[in-house]
Amino acid sequence: MEATNETEKIISEQLSSLNKIDTTESLEEWRVNTLGRQGVITSILKSISSLPVEERKAAGSAANQGKTRLQDAFGIKQKQLLANASSNSSDSIDVSLPGRPATRGKLHIVTQTIREISSVFVSLGFQIQEGPEVEWGKYNFDMLNIPQDHPARDMWDTLWVEKNHDDSEPLLLRTHTSPMQARIMESSTPPIRVIIPGKCYRYEATDATHEWQLTQIEGLAVDSDISFADLKGTLYEFAKRIFGQDRQVRFRCDYFPFVEPGVDMSIDCFKCSGKGCSICSHTGWIEILGAGMVHPNVFKGVNYDPEKYKGFAFGMGVERIAMLKYEIDDIRNFYTNDLRFLSQF
Ligand code: PHE
Repeated sequence: MEATNETEKIISEQLSSLNKIDTTESLEEWRVNTLGRQGVITSILKSISSLPVEERKAAGSAANQGKTRLQDAFGIKQKQLLANASSNSSDSIDVSLPGRPATRGKLHIVTQTIREISSVFVSLGFQIQEGPEVEWGKYNFDMLNIPQDHPARDMWDTLWVEKNHDDSEPLLLRTHTSPMQARIMESSTPPIRVIIPGKCYRYEATDATHEWQLTQIEGLAVDSDISFADLKGTLYEFAKRIFGQDRQVRFRCDYFPFVEPGVDMSIDCFKCSGKGCSICSHTGWIEILGAGMVHPNVFKGVNYDPEKYKGFAFGMGVERIAMLKYEIDDIRNFYTNDLRFLSQF
């Protein structure tokens, strides 16, 4: 009994001395003296074995409970001292240190490229318009001279929103920005000079050069006296302003159901100037867009007289232009949100 009382007395003395402590140094000293290997608690525990057998149990449990109380109190004190230290630390701020730079956000490289390309066309008299990404099958295909069951539909693997089996109009994610050609002509009268930037979607496996979401810029010019020479002049100017004044362009026949004749346009490789390198797949030429003269059937679909009006249209992939310009080798980089990639531009 005596030993137990003695233990409790020591514990409360230790607790009251702990209470008075106000520095981390004296706290450490207290810990060593009280809870340390040579401390008072250890010596109490050691002394238990020399007590009469009937007292050992009570004395041991008093000592162990006391030890736990002291450890808990020590933990609380330690936290208090740490909290005080950090709230007082304003005294020690070095105001002469340089501040941390705030990182500024910037426009996504695709947005920057859209703006750069758009400004070229705006300076040539084009207006900018946007359109819906969820589109009716009618605009994405039928009005572009691609009727139901036309094999050319396979050129654009489509993500359907609602592919109806009755007569109602199917809904899809537009596979290109060309449906806006029909929408704009339907609701306005020539002269028309417009570009349409926007997102498009394709049901496609992704790899280094294909993404299921892509950005296009469509162009459309309609007037009574527009010729293929206007198409060439406009797109030549665009190529030089985006890829450098020395650029050469090349047009080759290509097929798109909504233009006739249809072409694709290539520029001579800006990296090797046509000698052949990895960017141009050793051909000296890089294909950058599709274009052509608006097909008479498209005019008929929007009630324009194909005898009275002529027009040209073009469409380009913005990611592709950015990849060429900045030598980006994987299209998937654009939308995986890796800041190490994005902050370079
Ligand atoms: N819409 C076509 C495509 O996505 C590109 C194009 C637009 C071609 C306009 C000719 C005229 O491949």
